[in-house]
Amino acid sequence: MEDALKKISWPVRTERLSLRRVNSADVEDLWRYRQLADVTQWITAGPATVEEFRSLFFAKDYPLRNLAVELDTGQGTQLIGTVMLDIVDGWGQSEIEQRAKGVEGNLGWSFDPSFGGKGYATEAVVAAMGLCFGPLGLRRVTAECFAANEPSWRLTERLGMRKEFHGRKDSLHRSGEWMDSVGYALLAEEWTAQASC
Ligand SMILES: CC(C)(COP(=O)(O)OP(=O)(O)OC[C@H]1O[C@@H](n2cnc3c(N)ncnc32)[C@H](O)[C@@H]1OP(=O)(O)O)[C@@H](O)C(=O)NCCC(=O)NCCS
Repeated sequence: MEDALKKISWPVRTERLSLRRVNSADVEDLWRYRQLADVTQWITAGPATVEEFRSLFFAKDYPLRNLAVELDTGQGTQLIGTVMLDIVDGWGQSEIEQRAKGVEGNLGWSFDPSFGGKGYATEAVVAAMGLCFGPLGLRRVTAECFAANEPSWRLTERLGMRKEFHGRKDSLHRSGEWMDSVGYALLAEEWTAQASC
């Protein structure tokens, strides 16, 4: 997998947070909250042990696709969440499909619930969007989640993303239930218009 995020100068700082690449030394810190039922219930993989999580971390190229979000607590920095930033292809007719390669960002997130409700996830994802539409030069950013995951789609709406689909019972939850999903997107020009408001 190409390392598209290497062109960014890390860390990226926001008002209260700092974003950097995740690395193998983060596994234990991430596992501290990734193992919580409130977190795993909505995310793609729910490993049962830290060893399984560590294997997944490398098998799924986490360091290439995930940003660690750190908060300065006054007593040092605390890893409070991750933002996934995948660079993906758009769709194009076959004669010009090459031009649609690597032009979109797909974002995901998971945060330690003990730091929830303070806007940290929103602040971090806004920064990731800024990277997508700034140095990465992407034309569109998308995000999807289960429709029942209200905190997650509320976050996308706080970012000004547009709801583009509601899939009826199209997503299989590990409970065995086929659930609804929702998908959101934002174009580069919409981001620019939003920023100048
Ligand atoms: C999705 C998730 C990141 C949302 O967390 P969150 O705490 O709601 O999001 P934020 O950190 O941005 O906080 C937003 C809340 O803080 C409030 N807030 C307080 N101070 C704020 C500030 N300075 N700026 C913005 N919001 C602020 C907001 O009003 C909002 O509260 P509300 O939802 O009651 O309106 C979190 O629920 C999570 O990690 N879930 C588990 C993993 C998951 O579902 N991942 C997605 C899979 S698709």
